[in-house]
Amino acid sequence: MKPNEEEVCEGLENIIPLETKIAYIDGIEGILEYRGYKLKDLSSLSYDFVAYLLLYGKTPEKSELDNFTKELRANRAIDEGIEEIIHVCNFNVEAMDVLRTAISYMAHCDEDLNDNSPESNLRKGIKLIAKVPTIVAAFRRVVMIDKIIPPDPDLPRGANFLYMLTGKKPTPLEADLMEKDFIISAEHELNASTFAVRVAASTLTDLHSAIIAGIATLKGTLHGGARLAAMNMLDEVGSADKAEDFVLNAIQNKKRIMGFGHRVYKTYDPRSRITKNLVKQLAQDRGESKWLKIAENLEKTVIRELVEKRGKPIYPNVDFYSAVSYKYLNIPPQLATAIFVNGRISGWIAHYLEQQSNNRLIRPRALYVGEHHLEVK
Ligand code: SDX
Repeated sequence: MKPNEEEVCEGLENIIPLETKIAYIDGIEGILEYRGYKLKDLSSLSYDFVAYLLLYGKTPEKSELDNFTKELRANRAIDEGIEEIIHVCNFNVEAMDVLRTAISYMAHCDEDLNDNSPESNLRKGIKLIAKVPTIVAAFRRVVMIDKIIPPDPDLPRGANFLYMLTGKKPTPLEADLMEKDFIISAEHELNASTFAVRVAASTLTDLHSAIIAGIATLKGTLHGGARLAAMNMLDEVGSADKAEDFVLNAIQNKKRIMGFGHRVYKTYDPRSRITKNLVKQLAQDRGESKWLKIAENLEKTVIRELVEKRGKPIYPNVDFYSAVSYKYLNIPPQLATAIFVNGRISGWIAHYLEQQSNNRLIRPRALYVGEHHLEVK
C-alpha cells in the first residue's frame, strides 16, 4: 500500500495502533481507569494492590496480595554489583541515567535473561518493580557521599522509598503522598514511553531492553522529564508574587510552561487533582505554603491566559503537582523523573506482557518527501 499525504498524522495524534485492557482515558471528561477501576478509588489502596491489578488483570484476594507484597519486599535489596555501577556513574546526571545503566547491568546478571516466556517475564518484572526505588534512593545517598540505606521490609513502597532517602521514617502524610504519587504515575495507556516499551516488545526483545526503551523515552521534557523541569521552574519563580509575570513572559516568548498541557486531557488531569489535595494537606500540616502558593498562582495565570483568553485547553498535568509535592518532600530535581519510574514500571511491564500475549510487529509507514532517481557523480 503506497503511503499518501492525507494519511500523515504528526505525532500519531489520535491514531489507534492497538487494543488494550490495561487503562482507559476519557480526555474530555478527565477520567482515568486501570483495568476498569476508577483511579480515584484505586488511589486509596496500596501500590502493591494496584501493581497486582495491572500485572494480573484482576484484583488480588487477601492471600494473593500478601504473597505478592512478600515477593516484592524480598526482592527490594540491590547487590554489590549494582552498588558498584551506581558508584561509577557520573554524579552530575539525572537519576534516570543511573537507572538506565543499572537495569542494563541487572539484565547481565539475570539467569532468566534469555527466557522470554510469560512466567519468566513476570518473575523478571517483579524484580524490576521491587528494585527500581532502591536504585534511585541508593544513587541519592551515593551523590550525598553517604552510606546506602538498605530497604526496610516492614514499610510500604512509598514510606520505604522516603526512608531509604534519609534514614528517617516519614510521617503518615508524607508516606501517603509518596504512595499515591506512585499509584497515579503507574499507568497511562499509550503515552510515549509505554508505546516505546510496546514497540520494543513487539520485536520479541527481552524485558530489560524494553524497559530501558521506556526509561530513555520518559526522560524527555515533553514527557516525564517535565517533572524535573517543573521543579526547576518552581525554584526559578521563587515566590508567589512572581508567578504571574513568569507565565506572561513565557507566553510572550512562546515558551512552554512545564507541567501544563496534555495530548489527551483537554480538561484538568484527574491525577493532578489527587496530588494537589495532598500537597494542600502537607502544606497546612507543615505550616509552609510557599510552594503551594507559587503553584496555585502559576495555575491561575495559565488558566486565565491560555484557557479563558485564548481557548487553549492547557491545564496542570500529572507532573506539575508531583513536582510541587517533591519540593515539600525535599526531593532534589535530579531524582524527579526516576521517581516517575518508581510508579510507571508496573504499567510498562503490564503492557510488555499484553503485547506478548497477542503480538504483531509494530511497524508503521512514513510518507517519503525527498528526491528520487539521483545519480552518484
Ligand atoms: C506526561 O501522554 C501521556 O499520557 C503522558 C503522561 C503519562 O502519564 O505518561 O501524562 C505524562 O508526559 C505529561 C506531559 C508532561 N509534559 C509537559 O508538561 C511539557 C509541557 N507540555 C507540552 O509541551 C504539551 O502540552 C504536550 C507535549 C504535553 C502535549 O503537546 P501536544 O498535544 O503535542 O500539543 P501541541 O504541542 O501541539 O500544543 C498545542 C498548542 C500549541 O500552541 P499553538 O502552536 O497552537 O499556538 O498548545 C500550546 C502549544 O504551544 N501548548 C502550550 C503548552 N502545551 C501546549 N503552551 C504553553 N505551555 C504549555 N505547557
